[in-house]
Amino acid sequence: MHHPVEPESLDASLTKAAAILRAAKRVAVLTGAGISAESGLATFRGAGGLWEGHRVEEVATPRAFQRDPTLVWRFYNLRRANLATVKPNPGHDALVDIEKRLGDQFTLITQNVDSLHYAAGSKNVLEIHGALRRVRCTRCTRITERGTEALPDLPRCDKCDGLLRPDVVWFEEELPKDVWRPAVEAAYQCHCFLVVGTSAVVFPAAWLIEAAKNGGAKVIEVNLERSAASDRADVVLLGPSGATLPELIKRL
Ligand code: APR
Repeated sequence: MHHPVEPESLDASLTKAAAILRAAKRVAVLTGAGISAESGLATFRGAGGLWEGHRVEEVATPRAFQRDPTLVWRFYNLRRANLATVKPNPGHDALVDIEKRLGDQFTLITQNVDSLHYAAGSKNVLEIHGALRRVRCTRCTRITERGTEALPDLPRCDKCDGLLRPDVVWFEEELPKDVWRPAVEAAYQCHCFLVVGTSAVVFPAAWLIEAAKNGGAKVIEVNLERSAASDRADVVLLGPSGATLPELIKRL
């Protein structure tokens, strides 16, 4: 007779994950929109993941910006304004805690453009998809910090009057090498790779999980539900990261 395998209880999985994390001298983390969900920011592919009926792939491409920069800037200006109203949650805080234990042996790779990891106090952060708080000139390529201040629908460069764009990575664009290279290195070199709140369907970010596995790391996933990463994870912790990560820290 066929006996289906009982799924491990969350408690047993937490104990297993804590043992992996405790044994790891080098840890790398990959976060996605899910870690900021409990701060009140919508994820991209879940319920409410549409913006005025547009899929994110329709407003976050160079082609969309060429066709209708006002529409794209309206989307990004709303997201920037939204940032001023949100704070890091206990999930972000737990990652600060892990960094404090490991120092420079800890790397936090994030796909998020909300900079909430910095707001929480994380130091070694690689924002591989850029940051909403920065803008970049499409003409002279100068990058400037603009925080969450309100910008016009078609903001212009102070220096050359070129059209500004958000300093984020759009679909079909390459990731900035100065953050991507160290991200690959950190994934490949770590002993434990923690994947938090990402659907793991956007590449090349999701490929970092492969790099970690190839480098011999144990993979721990934290997500509300199973994702594209789950089959490659050694432990899957199902639940909200704002509760699960602090729970994991308690057991270290
Ligand atoms: N705790 C843990 N996980 C959560 C929570 C939560 N509270 N809420 C949602 N999630 C999970 C969802 O189950 C989903 O797997 O977070 C994931 C969010 O997935 P996406 O919306 O696809 O976000 P992300 O993986 O970050 O997207 C990657 O795509 O749109 C582009 O460039 C953008 O960086 C983004 C990239």
